[in-house]
Amino acid sequence: MGYKVQAPYIGIPSPERQDRMSKTHKIGVIPGDGTGPEVVAEGIKALKALSRRCGVQFDFKEFPLGGDQYLKKGTLLPEDVIEELKGTDAIYLGAIGHPDVKPGILERDILLKMRFVFDLYINLRPVVLYPGVDTPLKDKGPEDIDFLVVRENTEGMYAGGGGFFKKGTPDEVAIQESVNTRKGVERCIRFAFEACRKRNKRKRLTLCGKTNVLIYESDLWFRVFEEVSKKYPDVETNYQHVDAICMWMIKNPEQFDVIVTTNLFGDIITDLGAIIQGGLGIAAGGNINPEGAAMFEPMGGSAPKYTGLNVINPMAAIAAAQMMVDYLGEKDAAEILQRAMKEVLKNHLKSLEAKKMGYGTKEVGDLVVKYIQSME
Ligand code: IPM
Ligand code: MN
Repeated sequence: MGYKVQAPYIGIPSPERQDRMSKTHKIGVIPGDGTGPEVVAEGIKALKALSRRCGVQFDFKEFPLGGDQYLKKGTLLPEDVIEELKGTDAIYLGAIGHPDVKPGILERDILLKMRFVFDLYINLRPVVLYPGVDTPLKDKGPEDIDFLVVRENTEGMYAGGGGFFKKGTPDEVAIQESVNTRKGVERCIRFAFEACRKRNKRKRLTLCGKTNVLIYESDLWFRVFEEVSKKYPDVETNYQHVDAICMWMIKNPEQFDVIVTTNLFGDIITDLGAIIQGGLGIAAGGNINPEGAAMFEPMGGSAPKYTGLNVINPMAAIAAAQMMVDYLGEKDAAEILQRAMKEVLKNHLKSLEAKKMGYGTKEVGDLVVKYIQSME
């Protein structure tokens, strides 16, 4: 086919995990709200095509979590669902967010709760500009935009520490605490070094923090980064402040290979990453506990106004499925799916935006399936 296959995003899972895994991968599917079910359907279509094409086996089980269930039954992430999800090899999620539910409830009590209860301490977000996809960055192409952000996913500002004092009075105080444990920081940084080694590209790991102001949080991160780096002499290291990295991601994205950072900084810079790789129509991420559960999702939201219209782009959900297949250790299937995605992006989609693709949601999924079937 004449194009270079990219290094896998994640690489082979740890040996313990591979032993635990059955040959048929049990996938917990959470289609969720809005356009979530539509894009997840296309991702599953691609996974089933992979089964036919290269024999990889999946066993899907759906869980109707989300805004509708919350409005009907008042449940968010019930205990029995948590138990069942623990028995899966990976979770595949569409989108959470409902126009009739106050913002924050579903995010906190489904999405963030899942990260905490399964200890999904890595949020992995590849920023890859595929050929044929437009970037808002002038004079930058696929050779310039190809890096991986490793975001800590269970601590920092997301731990929920803090409180009000004299709430509602003119003397009110609001304190929001960032929690950083040595164990939490270390396991995240170690994962980033490992990921950098597995990618085997520029072999450069950038720590993103704010050492000039966050004298406790960033200090701990910096010290642990230096310490862990000693075990990875083959990986070049550097440090950038979070504000500066936002500039450099625009000006010289080609300098980045792997970036490791805190929960909140990672949240912010990966939205910037998403837009330079073509937007929410393509950006996907994985929430991973390398020794346990994992959940893969498109980065975009539930886009309620497009629900049921067959106009939303399913590529981000398909990219999430691709990361999941890679994570499950199915190298060939992951590579085939990635190549199929590339063909569709390069040869077909006019734009990655909803309504502007030149194809409907289902037709984009059909194209991916067509390439999976015809690929040598
Ligand atoms: C993300 C989202 C979530 C986050 C929200 C929905 C709570 O923005 O996955 O990046 O802030 O982590
Ligand atoms: Mn975010």
